[in-house]
Amino acid sequence: MDNLNIKKVGVVGCGLMGSGIAEVVAAAGYDVVVLEADSELLDKGNKLIDGSLAMSVRRGKMTEADITASKGRIKYTLNMADFRDCDLVIEAVTENMELKKKIFNELDQACKDGAILATNTSCLSIIDIASVTGRMDRVLGLHFFNPVPAMKLLEIVRTIATGEATLETAKAFGQSIGKTVVIAPDIPGFIVNRLLMPFFLEAIRLVESGQASKEDIDRAVMLGLNHPMGPLKLADFVGLDTACFISEAMYKEMSDTRFAPPVLLKKMVAARRYGRKTKRGFYDYG
Ligand code: 3HC
Repeated sequence: MDNLNIKKVGVVGCGLMGSGIAEVVAAAGYDVVVLEADSELLDKGNKLIDGSLAMSVRRGKMTEADITASKGRIKYTLNMADFRDCDLVIEAVTENMELKKKIFNELDQACKDGAILATNTSCLSIIDIASVTGRMDRVLGLHFFNPVPAMKLLEIVRTIATGEATLETAKAFGQSIGKTVVIAPDIPGFIVNRLLMPFFLEAIRLVESGQASKEDIDRAVMLGLNHPMGPLKLADFVGLDTACFISEAMYKEMSDTRFAPPVLLKKMVAARRYGRKTKRGFYDYG
């Protein structure tokens, strides 16, 4: 660990992204405090982390001793006051601006003055989230990708108010947890989702129009572009509810019809065909 400014990291929310973030940060040697809204969610998050760590042993990426050490560095809590000595807190709750603003307001009061506050939002305006704090220079986006332990990229999203020192600390932190960092602007979709969303949506429009099958679209992208998954498989993997939310948020912000969710996507979300998480999306996972 070569980043001297950060020793202890708080993670708010221990769902799919929060648990992955807590896992990689603890594996890199940091002390981690994980906060959830209730004990059931905390327990679920704990199980997600333990399950993923166990998988790393099966994949030959970690030893039993590494796992024991990682687990020992993670503390689970329901009390935000346990963030008082964290140097960095990463929020990874659901994509809801009001909820994020409420959490950032509370974090601003619970965390020490020098602490950096980061959000893992995939599409919401980070300066809007930062605006409820009294430390806008120490707020930024740390956008991780799913599955967090496997994906090498970390988008560091700098707002117009993010300070230079905060940015430098975030870069060093990202590298210290084994990620390659890119600096992205605080615009809808940052870099990756700005490119990924039109790609998803165009693939869905192609299915909707009946001009190509989902299998052929995915096969074409996998073999023609060397992507590990085609866009429809990947949309199922990300979650069609999430993809639809990001698309709507980007369309609302930019009034650009390229980002508007296709009717088919909205209908699938209404039918709770969210993809892998509900076992049905463009494909069946039953
Ligand atoms: N945890 C840890 N490591 C994992 C993992 C997991 N859950 N799943 C896969 N891996 C690792 C494996 O250990 C393996 O590593 P190695 O090559 O060093 O041995 C590598 O990933 C490949 O794994 P497998 O061979 O077991 O499985 P696949 O080849 O099927 O890969 C995948 C699975 C990594 C998910 C691959 O299909 C992939 O990269 N898909 C695309 C994922 C992607 O694009 N994610 C970004 C989504 S967009 C996003 O998150 C942004 C949000 O804002 C919308």
